[in-house]
Amino acid sequence: MNLKEQYINFFVSKGHKQIPSAPVVPENDPSVLFNTAGMQPLIPYLMGQAHPYGTRLCDYQKCVRTNDLDSVGDTTHHTFFEMLGNWSLGDYFKKESITWSFEFLTEVLHIPVDKLAVTVYKGEGNIPFDEESYELWKSLGIPESRIAKTCEDNFWIAGSSGPCGPDTEIFYFRSNEEVPEIFDPEDNRWVEIWNNVFMQYYKDSDGSITDLPKKNVDTGMGVERTTAILEGVNDNYASSIWKDVISLIAEISGLPYEGNEKSMRIIADHLRTAVFISADPSGIKPSNTDQGYILRRLIRRAIRHAKRLNIDINSDWESRIAKLILDKYKKYYHELEENETIVLEVLKNEKEKFNRTLEKGLREFEKVTKTHENISGENAFHLYDTYGFPIELTIELASELGLSVDEVGFQEKFKTHQELSRTASEGKFKGGLAGNSEIETKYHTATHLLNAALKRVVGPDVHQKGSNITDERMRFDFSCDHKLSEEEKKQAEDLVNEWIKEEIPVSVEEMPKEQAIKSGAECMFIEKYPDIVTVYSIGDVSKELCGGPHVSNTKVLGKFKIVKEEASSAGVRRIKAILENE
Ligand code: ALA
Repeated sequence: MNLKEQYINFFVSKGHKQIPSAPVVPENDPSVLFNTAGMQPLIPYLMGQAHPYGTRLCDYQKCVRTNDLDSVGDTTHHTFFEMLGNWSLGDYFKKESITWSFEFLTEVLHIPVDKLAVTVYKGEGNIPFDEESYELWKSLGIPESRIAKTCEDNFWIAGSSGPCGPDTEIFYFRSNEEVPEIFDPEDNRWVEIWNNVFMQYYKDSDGSITDLPKKNVDTGMGVERTTAILEGVNDNYASSIWKDVISLIAEISGLPYEGNEKSMRIIADHLRTAVFISADPSGIKPSNTDQGYILRRLIRRAIRHAKRLNIDINSDWESRIAKLILDKYKKYYHELEENETIVLEVLKNEKEKFNRTLEKGLREFEKVTKTHENISGENAFHLYDTYGFPIELTIELASELGLSVDEVGFQEKFKTHQELSRTASEGKFKGGLAGNSEIETKYHTATHLLNAALKRVVGPDVHQKGSNITDERMRFDFSCDHKLSEEEKKQAEDLVNEWIKEEIPVSVEEMPKEQAIKSGAECMFIEKYPDIVTVYSIGDVSKELCGGPHVSNTKVLGKFKIVKEEASSAGVRRIKAILENE
């Protein structure tokens, strides 16, 4: 049994229900491009909404974090990782959480108590010292000298607002040296393996803190790091998770891992993330904005490093590596099996596209750096625009020569070319949780109305392919094989406005998934939903499986207006629309 299976079995034996991993691209949450923690898809439930699976949940969640993308290449960083999590939604609290974590680590994983240490929340402002956790750890046999009281690292929140609370972090002594008597969290031989958050507060965007309706537990353990620790390796890429992928890269390149670690790790990591993003039901394809841009950067950086290892880019190297990754994970994530062809195509197409200009681009790069002068914004933009070099790639190439790039100058050029700036899209990573403000809630309901209108106007084969809501506008992607005519757009818009005028009440009910599907309820990713689902109905107009929230009557929506209709990807169209106050 591997760590994932041991973990799930253990928490199921403690009364938890296993929930499926959500897609890597969150739906209806414009504040983040990817799920970055197991708790992210659970936010509505941490805020008080009843979860159909009950109050004790566990899972392994696919996560993508790109803020450390440039650090990938060392022994510990990954852009994709799996997070193990167990949750209490107003059920158990600190005592069970800490006791079970201790039991799992010492009795299932057989980690000696002497190699463990913990941090607890010291207390700051109006939030007190977490004495209860401190006493619990002591009672389980962790000596006081191995319990550190700290502040900054012991209060957990995703971004800047949302559900949050003090946490206790569990550390493992990853070294063959003698374990020091006193635990120092700054000593990097101690590595954090598990984080138990006692989520009892809500932090508003204005900074104010209120109590959540229920006290929850949210925990997270990284699969890659913990597996490496259990297998006694200091390089994550030497663990059973990566060993075969690295061996394959070594075989393809004909080079040993030793001496070529950085490029091999980058190829392994980036291709794995690219496989998961392109297999996601959201249908992301390489592009120059948002998730598509991240996908493009990952693939292009992997290609650059493959070239560095003298791999023949025209061969099927990327396909061989991707297939190995798909085979390793299919068992856990069925979308990999279903979308295998798409994944291989995405990688191949992007490779061919980049490969057409890569060689010339590298020559151009050599030309502009011949003088050993730093790279101007203009040159960086030329490399981007003409040779498809993401700015980060140019920066990486330049830094290898000890040169810098005028990023500001690049951004200026970029903006004048009317493309979405990279900083704008990256700003999203830093953002907090979906606000679900009043206006966003209105857009949620308008999205259902537009979906229903398009089915009537264009045809029953229209299905939602994606949705993105901000408090400025809604964006709706749907399956459709043609550009909408002016007439079709007008009809859909009019229909939505008619329904708004009709003042239709919105109702919500819970029912078994089967029944919901039989009753004709629309849903985007059926596999994602639990056995009992929430269904929102807008009179006879629309019925959809959805987590909400929605307005209670269409009358509050104002005036609906389509502002743009364009292609999104093959067979998918995109509508941007706004709601105006009447
Ligand atoms: N949500 C917590 C984390 O990501 C458990 O560390």
